[in-house]
Amino acid sequence: MTSTVNTEKLSSARFAEATDAFVEIFTASVDFDRRMAAQDIQGSLAHAEMLCKIGILTTEEHEAIKTGMRQIEAEIQAGTFEWSIKQEDVHMNIEARLTDLIGIAGKKLHTGRSRNDQVATDIRLYLRSEIETITAQLHRLQVGILDLAEQHADTIMPGFTHLQVAQPVTFGHHLMAWFEMLSRDRERLQDCAKRLNVMPLGAAALAGTSYPLDRQLTAQLLGFSRPSANSLDSVSDRDFAIEFCAVGSLIMMHLSRFSEELILWSSAQFHFIDIPDAFCTGSSIMPQKKNPDVPELVRGKSGRVTGHLVALLMLMKSQPLAYNKDNQEDKEPLFDTADTLINCLRAFADMLPRIQPNKAAMYESAKRGFATATDLADYLVRKGMAFRDAHEVVGQAVRLGLNTQRDLSELTLAELQEFSSTISEDVFKVLSLEGSVAARSLIGGTAPDTVKLAIQNARAQING
Ligand code: ARG
Repeated sequence: MTSTVNTEKLSSARFAEATDAFVEIFTASVDFDRRMAAQDIQGSLAHAEMLCKIGILTTEEHEAIKTGMRQIEAEIQAGTFEWSIKQEDVHMNIEARLTDLIGIAGKKLHTGRSRNDQVATDIRLYLRSEIETITAQLHRLQVGILDLAEQHADTIMPGFTHLQVAQPVTFGHHLMAWFEMLSRDRERLQDCAKRLNVMPLGAAALAGTSYPLDRQLTAQLLGFSRPSANSLDSVSDRDFAIEFCAVGSLIMMHLSRFSEELILWSSAQFHFIDIPDAFCTGSSIMPQKKNPDVPELVRGKSGRVTGHLVALLMLMKSQPLAYNKDNQEDKEPLFDTADTLINCLRAFADMLPRIQPNKAAMYESAKRGFATATDLADYLVRKGMAFRDAHEVVGQAVRLGLNTQRDLSELTLAELQEFSSTISEDVFKVLSLEGSVAARSLIGGTAPDTVKLAIQNARAQING
């Protein structure tokens, strides 16, 4: 050893030279991984309990570790814990403080463990709890959708394809499409949580450990479904993180599409909905403006989550087994993904119940777009015409409507009969928007009664 050895530094005995000051900052992760302090302590307490059960720690040492950890928790809570980049990361900071507080027992805690299996465990515990919060927000949003859909099971609006009026639908039905997307997202989250819930502790640095650790016990103490099956894989696998970001990207993609509709609908051109003032801001120069900031921001934030997914895929690509320092880069994208999801879902869940639909504008818009043209074609088919011929006939009727600026329902019976003599008075029932939606009562259709049933089933599904 020379006088330049940094004796405070981890593994310092091996080094002949102190870590370069910038490298110390460059390689430290404590500034961001301290977010996992609670999970780090939780993991350590379970490890200590198991070490005591197998006789590696005495009861006194175990008690001292518990007391020390309680104090550390309190210091972190109170904001008095001194985080130091000299200790590189959250794991070393906590262990160093524990040793300060309780002496030799603190130094025994790391027996049979490495930061490699420790960090993999911490992230899994952390994400497990973030997934619970995300699921709760998702649930709130889904309940909000169901409540609004119930109020508007028979509110008529235009349904679009190519953003052109296509056929009338109910607002409730449209909202239930969003419910379905979020239901799939919830399933995906649960599925991701299943694979996540496997315990790396015991893999140690990469090869396992020669101590007779009771991995089943530690897994049980931490609520993991089982210990991981391969030590090399355990310390290097970040599939669960990628999956989480993939699920997150889908959620954000859905919220972004949802946002886009809210933005369009709240514009003066559509005027289908009013977004409450509390979720909008004005312009610093144009006094008349009310901007839909919340949906716009959510739409914008979808990009960063997809970015994190790609970042993690690239992080893992080409890494040889087992642990590499590259993996330290997994945390910031993960944390930001979780934060973004929680905040965006929360904003949506808060905003949605306060949205005011403008029924009259929706109805008018559906009426203006020849939305019942398909219904007229179906009517002619029921009267015996082949669908392709009916399609042609309706095309002519629409042209007349366009030329005379009238909806199909506003053409006279005589005019309609010019196109086909099979048309009789009962056609007007078919040409009404109400008749059109009511006719679509098959499973998954937009008929008000069908939508009410779908809402009822959905309620049972999310409460079950
Ligand atoms: N801070 C590290 C990380 O986040 C902890 C594991 C460090 N392990 C190591 N062998 N350097 O990945």
